[in-house]
Amino acid sequence: MIPSDFFRGRRLRSSLAMRELVRENMVTANDLIMPYFVVETDDDSFKKEISSMPGQYQLSLTQLKIKVAEAVADGLKACILFGIPAEKDEVGSGAYDDMGIVQKAIRLLKDTFPELVVIADTCLCEYTSHGHCGMVKNEYVQNDPTLNLLAKAAVAQAKAGADMVAPSDMMDGRVAAIRAALDDAGFTNTPIMSYAIKYASAFYGPFREAAESTPQFGDRKTYQMDPPNSREGMREAVADLEEGADILMVKPGLPYLDMVRQVRDTFDTPVAVYQVSGEYSMIKAAAQNDWIDEMGVVMESLVAFKRAGADLILTYFTEDVLKALK
Ligand code: PBG
Repeated sequence: MIPSDFFRGRRLRSSLAMRELVRENMVTANDLIMPYFVVETDDDSFKKEISSMPGQYQLSLTQLKIKVAEAVADGLKACILFGIPAEKDEVGSGAYDDMGIVQKAIRLLKDTFPELVVIADTCLCEYTSHGHCGMVKNEYVQNDPTLNLLAKAAVAQAKAGADMVAPSDMMDGRVAAIRAALDDAGFTNTPIMSYAIKYASAFYGPFREAAESTPQFGDRKTYQMDPPNSREGMREAVADLEEGADILMVKPGLPYLDMVRQVRDTFDTPVAVYQVSGEYSMIKAAAQNDWIDEMGVVMESLVAFKRAGADLILTYFTEDVLKALK
């Protein structure tokens, strides 16, 4: 005889409506942040597909505006911008030039779509000739001399109208330096979303093609975190919170869901997660081979972020998901 009192999980899975009644997590347009790559160019028609990220583009300002208009019509609420300057130098001047490409893109998007939350990625690597996220001396990335440059970049972004800045460099003390500089410049209300728990990951490969930010020597392992470590991630989170971070980000996404969960359980601050370029490219490549159902895998991976406790999700699938949610 089968006992009548054993757990019958299937009772609540009997129909879609029943499953939806007991559904614990869901992804909405409110959760999603779309990354865009904007290029400094005189060619308004410039729109170049990133070969390792099918469906993602480097865009001129004009093309960015067209792309964002379409996404806003589909329900886009927030985006994050990466700039690719025409000229790079040792100290990444383009990052903090008021006429730099990201500053121009921020002004354009805020003028055209005032309701859109425009976030600026704050880093130097797209702007430096050596491709590192800070100032370099004897092939070593200098921590403290870099802080001032990052702070200048954040202020330039806020001045251009950015709704939020997102330091992704992993220098120690950058959140404090940026907070102080923003406050000094009168941007007390500009939040900081810090890439707090950011690993030195092989999953960033395709991004470096997209942002043209491959380090010209060495790697980022002396500043980004070592993938085997989790306690150290919590130490990074505490530091960034104490320095004034408003939102903590974990990056990459799926391979680091344990960190999303730990941050969620330990702090009351909003938690963001970045489904990075390599995660995007892997799904795309498998889907193009008809090996997986693309939207099925995308929605499952995004709801996994919610289940792990993330509030905000940065993903290159944002535009596709907005269309699917409509
Ligand atoms: C800049 C930055 C990177 C990413 C976001 N901001 C690259 C890196 O640290 O090398 C990666 C995003 C992605 O892979 O999608 N520091």
